Order: sequence, then structure tokens, then C-alpha cells
Amino acid sequence: MLQILCLALFGLLTGVQADPGALLRLGMDIMNHEVQRAMEESHILEKMAAEAGKKRPGVKPIKGLSNMKVKDVITPVITLNFVPGVGIFQCVATGMTITGKSFTGANMEIIVVLNITATNRFLQDEETGLPKFKSEGCEITLVSVKTNLPSNKVISKFLDSTLHKVLPGLMCPAIDAVLVYVNERWASLNQPMPVGHMGTVRYALASTPTTTASHVQVDFSPLVQQQTGQTIPLTDPEEALELPEDYGEGSSQLFLSAAFLTAELGLLQKSLDVKIQDKLIGALPPQTTETLADFLPEVAEIYPKPKPLVTQIKITKSPKVTMKSGKSLLHLHGTLEMFAAQRGKHPVSLFLLEVHFNQRIQYSVHENRLQLATSLDRLLSLSRGSSSVGNFNEKELTDFITDYLHEAYTPVVNDVLQVGLPLPDLLAINYDLAELDIAENALVLDLKA
Ligand SMILES: *[C@@H]1O[C@H](CO)[C@@H](O)[C@H](O)[C@H]1NC(C)=O
Repeated sequence: MLQILCLALFGLLTGVQADPGALLRLGMDIMNHEVQRAMEESHILEKMAAEAGKKRPGVKPIKGLSNMKVKDVITPVITLNFVPGVGIFQCVATGMTITGKSFTGANMEIIVVLNITATNRFLQDEETGLPKFKSEGCEITLVSVKTNLPSNKVISKFLDSTLHKVLPGLMCPAIDAVLVYVNERWASLNQPMPVGHMGTVRYALASTPTTTASHVQVDFSPLVQQQTGQTIPLTDPEEALELPEDYGEGSSQLFLSAAFLTAELGLLQKSLDVKIQDKLIGALPPQTTETLADFLPEVAEIYPKPKPLVTQIKITKSPKVTMKSGKSLLHLHGTLEMFAAQRGKHPVSLFLLEVHFNQRIQYSVHENRLQLATSLDRLLSLSRGSSSVGNFNEKELTDFITDYLHEAYTPVVNDVLQVGLPLPDLLAINYDLAELDIAENALVLDLKA
């Protein structure tokens, strides 16, 4: 019932296909589920049956058949097939009992089993830019016809011509009506979805969806916008998405590129700046100048009496997500400045360090939002900016800073990441069921219908 249209134009473009920020492959599992659901929720065949007896303007009554009613509609069995470049071929196998009075005046009952077939072309709506299916070439094929009338040539001719007149008008609108249900479920796609209070993501289509022999493919060029309205562009066009093909036949996947996740985390950059002034943090020793003096003896000379430490961390570059098969990292560049707190006075800056470190990312999906949890992977570089405690060698601080980032800063990062990242809202896909996999430059969500 879904029909997919692939423009000839697209064929010309495939060679230079821009790498999308996100890509959705809808296999037969999701499509079947979707059409089945639309058919059930719409109760469409029953509605058509109920309509059958009513007089409708413009519809001529059938000669020789009066009081027509339709009952006992058989639960439809729907079969879908992808038509490459076009959309989805749909066959609805069903049946029903038609009652009425025949031209002889006799009460007539016809039990008919039939197939409704149509091609659902997949298009992009010109007005809304949303994908939509449109049915074409609806046909009714009679599988069997049984009747209580005596079987003779006149009767069978009558039945045949009557059914061929009645059934398409009765059943084909059902196909369109079901598509309305399916199409509705793409409508939210255009809505910007919030990432906390920091901004929004909108999954705009990059091009008209295409159909292959095994799936419908939807390319997104997501729009990441700060609350101020500024767009964060997706960078790294050189890092092409390599899409693994080794997923089960008929299965569906969502691919999110590292570049796209990087742009989304750009929204959170400011939230990653913090001032930490707790004396007790996780498993760390009390944060005072005395503790620091274990690593930098100079500090003990300047502060013979221990003073509490205050730390300010600022992320100075946009956070960057990288992915290599099985491992994803969040790169953070920034400054870490340590102060000695003074009673009644401004804290005094001890030193400022330029830091670059990695957080290892674990992905999961909760309530249809992508959740990231991180742990410190490695402190990659440490260099001294300013210092009020002399020219120390910053390497002396490697262990201290590593432990500090692990115990004090990782919880801050994870807290900020808790907002979760929105996933494309369409066909009521339940992303919570997905299996996640880190591929080359992309996160793969293997979807379950
Ligand atoms: C009707 O549809 C069923 C299920 O798709 C198929 O097996 C059968 O061959 C079809 N019959 C006709 C007459 O088209």
C-alpha cells in the first residue's frame, strides 16, 4: 500500500550522492507492521462494507441488485513487495458476504473471496516536503464466488458483471484510506525537536526517498539549530558514511553519522563549562592546596595552611564525536584553571592548563531518545598556560588531573548528556527496541518492528 516513487533524476545523482547526516532504511519488517496497523486501526474494510448499502450521489444503482449489504468481512491478509524505483506493490487478500435481492426477486447471498492490488508510489509532497505514498492502478481479482442462487449461465454472467461493477468502487477507496493513515505517520517529521533548552534538531529530507528491491531509503540532512536560531553546520564532508550491508533481509536501520552527532553536541558546549568547588568529590582525597602539594611541592610553600580548591573547566572548542568500529569517543578541548579559595576574598588562580581529553561513549536508547553516557578514556595533552606558583612541569600533574577529570568532570558531562538526542519521529518506530552498533563514522540502530 505504500508506494514509492523514485525520480529518474535520482538515478543521475546516485554517483555523487552527498553523505547524509542521517539515513533510514525501512525494510519489509517495518513496512508490513505499518500497513497491517493502518489497516486494523482504520477499520477500513468494515467502513467500506457499511457504506456499501448507502445511496451515494453520483453512484448509479446496480441493475438487478437491490438492498445490497456487505457483511462478514474476512480479516485481510496483506502482502507487500518493493518495486525498485517506484514504491511498494500491495496485495490485500480478503473476502466478504454480499446480500441483496436479485433481479428474480430472490434473496441472494454471494460469498466472494478476492484480492485487491495496487501500487503505492512513494513521493515527496511538494507542499510539505514530507514523504508520502499514493496509490495507482487498483485492481480487484476474484479468487472465488459462491452463491445460494441456482447455478446457471444467466446467473453467473449476472454475478460476474455485477461484482466487477460493484467491487472496485467498494474496495479501492480502502487502499487510499489506509494510505492516509500511513502518510499521517510521517507528518511529525517536519517538527523541530528540542535538545534540552539548548536548541533543536529537525530531520529534513535530503532528497526524495528511494526504493530498492529490499528497502525504502530515506536520506536526511538534519538541521541543528541553537536556541538563538543559529544553525550548527555538519562538518567533515570527507568522512563519507560507509554503510554496512550485513543486516538481516527485510530488516530496517537508522544510521546517524559522527558528523551529525558532533553538530548536536555542539548545542551542549556551553553547558559543559563548570566551576567545581566541592571539597569532597567521589573517591578523590579532600580537594585542598595540601592535596595538590603532593604533586606540586611549590604549592605547600605558598600555602602552608591548606585552602580549599576551586576548579573552573571551560570547553573552548566544539566537542567532537569520532567512531571506529566498536568504539566511539568524545573529544573535549578546553582549559582547566585551579584556584585557592580565600575566606572573604576572591579565589586566587594557581594555574591554568590547556587540556585535551577523550571520553568513551556508550550509546543506548530510552523513550525514543539517544542517550550517551561517557567515561574518561585518556588525557591526551596537558600544557601550562598561566601559573602563579612558578614554572612547574605540567607532566607532574598528569595523574592528579586524570583522576580529577574522571571523578569530578565525567559526572558533569554525563549530567549534561542526559537530555538525550531526538530521533526521527515517523511511523511510530519504537527505537527503544533497537540494537545499537558502532560502525565506521556512524552509529547504527538496527530497528525492530
Ligand atoms: C490472491 O492473493 C494471494 C495472497 O497474496 C495469492 O496467494 C493468490 O495467488 C492471489 N490470487 C489471485 C487469483 O490473484
